[in-house]
Amino acid sequence: MIIRPRRLRANQKIRDLVRETVLTKNDLIMPLFIDENLNAGDKKEIPSMPNQYRFSIDGVVEECKEIADLGIPAVILFGIPRYKDEIASSAYDKNGVIQKSIRKIKDELGDELLIIADTCLCEYTSHGHCGLIKDNKVLNDETLEILSKIALSYAESGVDVVAPSDMMDGRVGRIRSVLEENDYKDVAIMSYAAKYASSFYGPFRDAAESSPKSSIKDRKTYQMDYGNSREALREIELDINEGADMVLVKPALPYLDILKMAKENFNVPVGGYCVSGEYSMIEAAAQNGWLNREEAIMEALYCIKRAGADFIITYWAKEVANLL
Ligand code: PBG
Repeated sequence: MIIRPRRLRANQKIRDLVRETVLTKNDLIMPLFIDENLNAGDKKEIPSMPNQYRFSIDGVVEECKEIADLGIPAVILFGIPRYKDEIASSAYDKNGVIQKSIRKIKDELGDELLIIADTCLCEYTSHGHCGLIKDNKVLNDETLEILSKIALSYAESGVDVVAPSDMMDGRVGRIRSVLEENDYKDVAIMSYAAKYASSFYGPFRDAAESSPKSSIKDRKTYQMDYGNSREALREIELDINEGADMVLVKPALPYLDILKMAKENFNVPVGGYCVSGEYSMIEAAAQNGWLNREEAIMEALYCIKRAGADFIITYWAKEVANLL
């Protein structure tokens, strides 16, 4: 035998030397849930997501300091508001939970941490959908108006990046033009461009209280069908043409083929969102002693990076930053 691939696997040093993919702290974005109903000192563990919490507005500022100290570059914020209505008005309230949080975090940390705000209606609507509803339909164009109001109010509060996750048609273009018109030219858009209608969001909807509650039981008329991949290219292309600065593929692990296609076909940064269900599956298996938790986490994140992700949104960001 002349060729023996095992030579390059003989020990850790040689494996490190030839490794193609490297995960660094700079690749990580930590998602955070902020609950306006919590008192300053309280935090509440999310039952379906072990070790993940809902923070109060003051609590999230402290959490962000820890995250910045760990060397993680960015957080993405999700809000649980004090009130919900049909039109998600608590999402664009100047004194809404995310608006207040952005101002407080920026006051404390300035440019030490990038703040990304998930931009959607579902956590703020009484019916739990990502758009306005009329006659049993999720409306598209009417929803764009609300989304652009939300994005603008996050920009006014000092956000660095808005991340529309609603999957309405035309949202990126609408948000971009509202930001331009109001002189928020430097606020970037990270669009959830290829977002699939996935059961892996289950634990998140627990955490954010955002399950669809109306007679429309799922999000299949706006999020994508998991049988499709070419449609993802179309969605990503549209978002880039409308002004998205970076795009996301979501979920990540069951959709690595989509991530790879996205990376190969476009020249904007591509991120993978390792979602709540991916997190909870590994956590649950680890709790049962069925796999090695730390190794499984590292493998999962490395594989997302190997498939093409320039950055990863992951609930393990803090933990992994500690390990790296
Ligand atoms: C809001 C939103 C969701 C997630 C991110 N933004 C939920 C959904 O679309 O139902 C899911 C994230 C996760 O599962 O970790 N639209």
